[in-house]
Amino acid sequence: MRARPRRNRLTPAVRALVREHRPAVTDLVLPLFVREGSGNDPIASLPGVARHGLDSLAAQARHAADAGLRAVALFPRIPDDLKDARGTRAADPDGLVPRAVAAVKAAAPDLVVITDVALDPYSSIGHDGVADNGRIANDPTVARLCAQAVAQARAGADVVAPSDMMDGRIGAIRDALDGAGCTDTLICSYAVKYASAFYGPFRDALDSAPRALDGIPGDKAGYQMDPANGREALREIALDEGEGADWLLVKPGLHYLDVVHRVRAATTLPVAAYHVSGEYAMLMAAAANGWLDRDRCLVETITAFRRAGADLVFTYAALDLARLLR
Ligand code: PBG
Repeated sequence: MRARPRRNRLTPAVRALVREHRPAVTDLVLPLFVREGSGNDPIASLPGVARHGLDSLAAQARHAADAGLRAVALFPRIPDDLKDARGTRAADPDGLVPRAVAAVKAAAPDLVVITDVALDPYSSIGHDGVADNGRIANDPTVARLCAQAVAQARAGADVVAPSDMMDGRIGAIRDALDGAGCTDTLICSYAVKYASAFYGPFRDALDSAPRALDGIPGDKAGYQMDPANGREALREIALDEGEGADWLLVKPGLHYLDVVHRVRAATTLPVAAYHVSGEYAMLMAAAANGWLDRDRCLVETITAFRRAGADLVFTYAALDLARLLR
């Protein structure tokens, strides 16, 4: 037998020499939940993850930077009395997100701050767009997203990340940012975002689960992609690339590694993937039961994302991984 693949697995040194992918702390983005007030409170369905008041957020940002992480992504829990059917507060320049961006920048100036562009945290029915006549209206929503993105960029966000799946929003947001003088603000497009049941714990964290009202369904299938579709992802990324996206994101990530791989092959842009709340929660629940080795599964998971072709991975385990990958 001439070919013996096992020769390349002979010792730890040989294995290290031939290893194809080396996940690093610089590949990771840490999502952070922010709320009004001080301190923090844990999220039951996301073990190890909390909602942070601004003081706690600043401390966590410093902690992330000290651990070697380069980026955080902010998601706000908006008080119910500030929510309405049009998500009016999303573009408030004095709102929670602009203040959170400032707090992170003050605590860790070199950290890249990514903000979520979508109306759901501000929507009384938990939808990503403006409710109008029994539907989520695309073009009026895009106008609101532009205002939201400009408010975030003016507050100091380095990257705005539209996660709403409206048509045409990347080009419109690019024009709005440029018109406001924010030509250096990057756009990370959630170009390929599926209508997934794996967002459950995230919606618990923000109290943002979509609700049916006046003919609008209680799910996001009218704008997020059908989990059965892979080819359609290539159409979405082609459009967003043409409209000026700087990064393209696939979400969820772990159950869609085939899509990550196809997207990687079809673009020269950086590709991000999101290890979403439900995917993270499954692993944490099994580990808490003693059924899986948490740390080894986390490293294997991040390696799988990289092997599939993701340059960047959004993961709630970023701080743990920063330690494990060191
Ligand atoms: C909302 C948004 C969602 C997530 C990120 N941004 C939820 C949704 O679309 O309902 C989910 C992230 C996760 O589950 O970890 N625009």
